[in-house]
This record gives sequence, C-alpha cells and structure tokens, in this order.
Amino acid sequence: MAYETLIVEVEDYVATIRLNRPDALNALNARLMSELAQAVTEADRNDTVRCIVLTGSEKAFAAGADVKEMAELSYVDVFQADFFAQDADTIARARKPIIAAVAGYALGGGCELAMICDFIIAADNAKFGQPEINLGIVAGMGGSQRLTRFVGKAKAMDMHLTGRFMDAAEAERCGLVSRVVPLKSLMEEAMKAAQKVAEKSKVTAMAVKESVNRAFETTLREGLLYERRMFHAMFATEDQKEGMAAFLEKRQPQFRDR
Ligand code: HXC
Repeated sequence: MAYETLIVEVEDYVATIRLNRPDALNALNARLMSELAQAVTEADRNDTVRCIVLTGSEKAFAAGADVKEMAELSYVDVFQADFFAQDADTIARARKPIIAAVAGYALGGGCELAMICDFIIAADNAKFGQPEINLGIVAGMGGSQRLTRFVGKAKAMDMHLTGRFMDAAEAERCGLVSRVVPLKSLMEEAMKAAQKVAEKSKVTAMAVKESVNRAFETTLREGLLYERRMFHAMFATEDQKEGMAAFLEKRQPQFRDR
C-alpha cells in the first residue's frame, strides 16, 4: 500500500512506519493521521508482523499537529471532526506492540503520538514538549493525561504551562522514555528491540501489552485482578508449555503463537 505521508516497510517480522512530511518537520495533518491509522491497522492484521516501529526523521519525530491546517478552524469544525481522536484511538488500540523511535522534535501531537506507542526509544538529540499553550490551545491527543501518568504532576504541569522542551536525558530520568541511544544507532537499536519482541510468542506479547496498559486505565485492585487472570490464561496456551519445556531442556523455545 503506497502512502503520501508515510514510508512503510515490513522486514523480518517488523513493520517500520516512517512519518514522511520532511518540509513540515512531520507535522501531523489529517491526511497523515488517517494514513497512519490505516498503516497501523494493516500491520496489526498482517500475520507476518510481530512488532511495529514508528519513527520520523533525524530532525523530527513530529513537531506537532499541523498549525497551518488548524489555524482557521472553528470550534464546530474541530468538534465535528473530533480532531484526530478516531485515528489516535485506532493507533492506541493496536494489539501488537508499537515501539516509538524518536529523534529530534516530538512536540505537541508528536509527543502525544510517541506516548500512545508502547515504549519510546529516544536518540540523544530528541526533544519532547507540549508547547500548545504558546498557540493558545491545550493538548488534545492525550498529552495532559498520558504525560502526567508518565512523569508525574510537577513535570507535566511544568511542560504544559511553560511550553519548555525536555531533552532526552531528562526524558529518560523521569520515565518518559525507556532508553536513550546515540542518534546514529537509533534505528539499529529500535530494530534490535523490535526483533527481541518478535522472537517471543505473539500471543504472550499481546497479553503483556494488554496487562501493562491496564495500569493506565483502571485501579490497582482491578489491574492486579486483570493481571492474575491473564497469568492464569497463559497456562491455556501451547507457548507456555513450549517456553517452560525449552527452559528445562536448555534450548531456545520454538513459539507457535498458539
Ligand atoms: C506546521 C510546522 C510545524 C507544525 C514546524 N513546521 N512545525 N508546520 N505545523 N507544528 C514547519 C515550519 O513552519 C517550517 O516550514 C518548517 O516546518 C521548519 O520549521 P522551522 O520552524 O523553520 O524550524 P526550526 O527553526 O528548526 O524550529 C523547529 C521547531 C518549530 C522548534 C520544532 O518549528 C516549532 O516550534 N514548531 C511548532 C511546534 C508546536 O507548536 N507544536 C504543537 C502544535 S499544536 P516553512 O514552510 O516555514 O519552511 C499540537 C496540538 C495537538 O500539536 C492536538 C491534537 C489533537
């Protein structure tokens, strides 16, 4: 499938989706968001894909929603379109793991998009921010909620109220990103991580994703119960038998996603 705003490749069980609007630092417009939702859905349904990597360019993961496209919109326009909400939900509901490989700017909707992914690997030049306040708006794709859950109230308020950018080291320190790597090895490291995920049972990886995400969506008591039931359910899979047998026989497991 050819896209106008994305470059998509599937290789070795990993779908790499690259945002590709270089003239606008990958600003998210309606076209890009709808193509991205479609590409993620296709990768999610594609049996040969076991992990998805979402990335941008060396200069920008995405510098936010496209200000040119938003500038003249009215309340009714954004309300009726439910601006980006359906596409963002589609991406957030993907069942396969999505790794964000972030270099350069991840601002506004770009930071929000990275946080929708399951974890973020950042290049050492990455800059995260929620500078919507400078445009007279607030975050609209999860930034006030997800960033606060990731980094806590103090830093989230600081980021949203001052509009300042956070560098990669600070982002790692406060738990926004899982690792920081040199810019030149970002894609190599992201692909290595994706390959690690792809080696696992797809069924187990999907269960991990669902379980960890419960921590964002429910109380501790409900989340613990969900995890326990998911743990019990794993014993109905062939991959549990294979994983444990392989360990005991001191060999690599041959998972069959069953
Ligand atoms: C449209 C953008 C853009 C954006 C950059 N560009 N960000 N176009 N929307 N969000 C364009 C510029 O207009 C310029 O095009 C080209 O990309 C290069 O950008 P420069 O500003 O010349 O580059 P630089 O000086 O290096 O500064 C980089 C930057 C700055 C710090 C990232 O571009 C910036 O502050 N961008 C806006 C960031 C922002 O406010 N994001 C939040 C948006 S609101 P030309 O044609 O002039 O060369 C949002 C809400 C989400 O995201 C809600 C979702 C529901």
